[in-house]
Amino acid sequence: MGRKFFVGGNWKCNGTTEEVKKIVETLNAGQVPSPDVVEVVVSPPFVFLPVVKSSLRPDFHVAAQNCWVKKGGAYTGEISAEMLVNLDIPWVILGHSERRALLGESNEFVGEKVAYALSKGLKVIACIGETLEQREAGSTMDVVAAQTKAIAARISDWTNVVLAYEPVWAIGTGKVATPAQAQEVHAELRKWLHANVSPEVAASTRIIYGGSVNGANCKELAANPDVDGFLVGGASLKPEFIDIIKSAE
Ligand code: G3H
Repeated sequence: MGRKFFVGGNWKCNGTTEEVKKIVETLNAGQVPSPDVVEVVVSPPFVFLPVVKSSLRPDFHVAAQNCWVKKGGAYTGEISAEMLVNLDIPWVILGHSERRALLGESNEFVGEKVAYALSKGLKVIACIGETLEQREAGSTMDVVAAQTKAIAARISDWTNVVLAYEPVWAIGTGKVATPAQAQEVHAELRKWLHANVSPEVAASTRIIYGGSVNGANCKELAANPDVDGFLVGGASLKPEFIDIIKSAE
């Protein structure tokens, strides 16, 4: 079975009630390909999840931007996977590079979070990616393989996982990976899954690209055989997100 194109919008720590309302109105009015062609998931900050979920068109879904690594309890400031399930939030983004870098989330911690979230029934957008320093040192594949391995070691079912390759140097910088750079890493990741997980998982797991994707560069990136969609940051707050969704066709 082919891999359905996936477009995620990560709103990060942005938005007021008014702005969120406006974004949702824009999304709801957008003419996009059918859900048979593209799966669209937007990820507002936690506090806006209920309002976005209840006002968003039914063919788009929502994701949280993080969740706690185990069952909830005395963990001030955290949100548990159980709470997301309770609110009927189907997706969660885990391992985003901003959390890895700023909050010290290790490969192992991210792997544990992915395993726990999946065990509770959430679907996971698992983020991986190298820094500029690591790319320049020629260790891109070692880095993303280690990040993927920490996940693979803790899960057996990849059905509900989307792997987001987001080179750190391309995030929020306007410096998008070239289509060839994205395709190269995605193809290597698929090979890694083939060799280390299974041929079936390699063939069916969606590997999406994130890092300065916008309405102007999405078509060329989407044309690559191993680019199965995008995780969009800044441009997901703007009307051009609709153009990015349209690149599925
Ligand atoms: O999660 C999304 C990525 O961090 C990409 O962000 O599109 O603003 O570069 P960006």
